[in-house]
Amino acid sequence: MAAKKNKYEQFKLPEEFHVFGFAEDLLAWYHSQKRDLPWRINRDPYRIWVSEIMLQQTRVETVKPYFHNFMDKFPTVNDLAVAPEEEVLKAWEGLGYYSRARNLQAAAREIQASYGGQVPDTPEEISKLKGIGPYTAGAILSIAYEKPEPAVDGNVMRVFSRLLLMDDDIAKPATRIKFEHLVRQTIPVGRAGDFNQALMELGATVCLPRTPQCLTCPVFDYCLARREGVQEELPVKGKAKPPRQVNLLVAAVIKDDQLLINKRPSKGLLARMWELPMVEVDEKLWAEEQLSQFLLDSYGVDVEILNQLPSVQHTFSHLQWQLDVYLCAYKDGALENETAKFATRTQLQEYAFPVAHNKILQSIAL
Ligand code: ADE
Repeated sequence: MAAKKNKYEQFKLPEEFHVFGFAEDLLAWYHSQKRDLPWRINRDPYRIWVSEIMLQQTRVETVKPYFHNFMDKFPTVNDLAVAPEEEVLKAWEGLGYYSRARNLQAAAREIQASYGGQVPDTPEEISKLKGIGPYTAGAILSIAYEKPEPAVDGNVMRVFSRLLLMDDDIAKPATRIKFEHLVRQTIPVGRAGDFNQALMELGATVCLPRTPQCLTCPVFDYCLARREGVQEELPVKGKAKPPRQVNLLVAAVIKDDQLLINKRPSKGLLARMWELPMVEVDEKLWAEEQLSQFLLDSYGVDVEILNQLPSVQHTFSHLQWQLDVYLCAYKDGALENETAKFATRTQLQEYAFPVAHNKILQSIAL
């Protein structure tokens, strides 16, 4: 009978990959080339944590000003834990994926309550915190605490798909687990933080998605895909579904020098952010009638629709909003919706709005 294959067999580094010298060469390059980034000035676990959350799905150049502002406003875990949620959302405004901000604050409160204000340093504890998945746990543990944990995100999977000549679909969750096992075997003792950052740096500056810069790559000699000339065909990534289009009618209701705004529900997309009243419709036919009826039914206000403002589009990972906007004059009716209010232009500055609604606000003269 044939010997049963060990299930971890598939997680062995391929024999053709020469691991000896790989980490040293990568680290030497990192030390000479690394970018000066604001979260690299020290190893404060709180700063590392905030930076890693901001850097999820967001480019370094976009994150930088937000990171500086966030650290000015909330310099410690405690400052974040005790801040009003409104202020935290405002500091996140424009960065997108707002559940990151709400989870960050929930986790800061948990760190205050259960860990004396210290970001925990074990995989078990840190992974229990809201918003901290395997990648972020590995990044914080290695960069702040030098724990030998892998930090595998899409960039690192791209780098390793090429280095090890692997055609596993990086859109599948099982592939990330496989890469974690493989990366773990290459982490040099006592250098996990720099090693993980060097992999991120390589992915961001050299091992680019469509145009890998192999001629300047510090680990050119180790790369199995480059040896075969297939680096541009990797990684393999299954197609995500295209975003679903959602048609929305939006009302900019003006009463004197005030605008009608509404706080979104506490669950779901853009939870607890502010918006202009809006309603999803199947058809844009009779848009004005549909919108006036909605304002009457859901807000208790009667309006006169004046004219249409420029339409706005916004794409989320899974949805595409198509917003048709109507300027309306308030006529009558007491506000019936507890989450809504009329606000002046100055008051609007205090509230966090989604990017699409901020665009609309810019087209309204108050
Ligand atoms: N992307 C994710 N984490 C990063 C980090 N620490 N430095 C640079 N880019 C990153």
